Amino acid sequence: MKLPKGPAVLPSILSADFSRLGEEVRAVEAAGADAIHIDVMDGRFVPNLTVGPMIVEAVRSVTRLPLDVHLMIVEPDHLIAEFIRCGADSITVHLEACTHLHRTLQLIKNHGASTGVAINPATPVGFIEPVLDDIDLLLIMSVSPGFGGQSFIKNSLAKTQVARQMIRERGLAVSIEVDGGVQPGNAGLLRAAGVDLFVAGSAIFNHADYKAAIADLRRTIDAI
Ligand code: DX5
Ligand code: ZN
Repeated sequence: MKLPKGPAVLPSILSADFSRLGEEVRAVEAAGADAIHIDVMDGRFVPNLTVGPMIVEAVRSVTRLPLDVHLMIVEPDHLIAEFIRCGADSITVHLEACTHLHRTLQLIKNHGASTGVAINPATPVGFIEPVLDDIDLLLIMSVSPGFGGQSFIKNSLAKTQVARQMIRERGLAVSIEVDGGVQPGNAGLLRAAGVDLFVAGSAIFNHADYKAAIADLRRTIDAI
């Protein structure tokens, strides 16, 4: 299954209630989510630990939505085949965590998933240029990864514009995703800057009404 082309809203389950994870995933699907974003952290690349392939498999069993797996881990190559076997439709690795990025992307492709590369807030967009032909998705992190509920880092907007232009000039179909501090208050600006895929954790799961939260985001995105 491919990720939607966008504009699309992807709830990040990092902010879900993990004691009721299945219900939470079903609830955001019913509320209009376009895909599910799963944050994998290893306690090394980022100062937090979350979930592995078992949880991806569990999420796969309760939803028909595409699964967008964001690997915030060092040496991801060992685990890529297993994440895809467990149901990941798209795998995003961090440029900063991959010694041989091109090889890692080929590995993802060879196992049949869509390929994504994420860059941290302090990584220049230009670093992505050598692999732009090899990816389906560029994830521009708008917080330093590791935790939900952080504030949006403003230079991410300008980075998005640079990325959009680079992709357009090359005539590529790479989707731009943004992750971290996405709210109805900045989603419109991000859409105008060229974002296709909007990841939102706390803006959805901390809201009492998931349908209203997704609709609020979509309204500002579609207003552009
Ligand atoms: C951060 C994760 C995000 C996180 C976003 O490291 O990659 O996906 O869940 O959460 P919010 O939307 O609350 O910033
Ligand atoms: Zn993420």
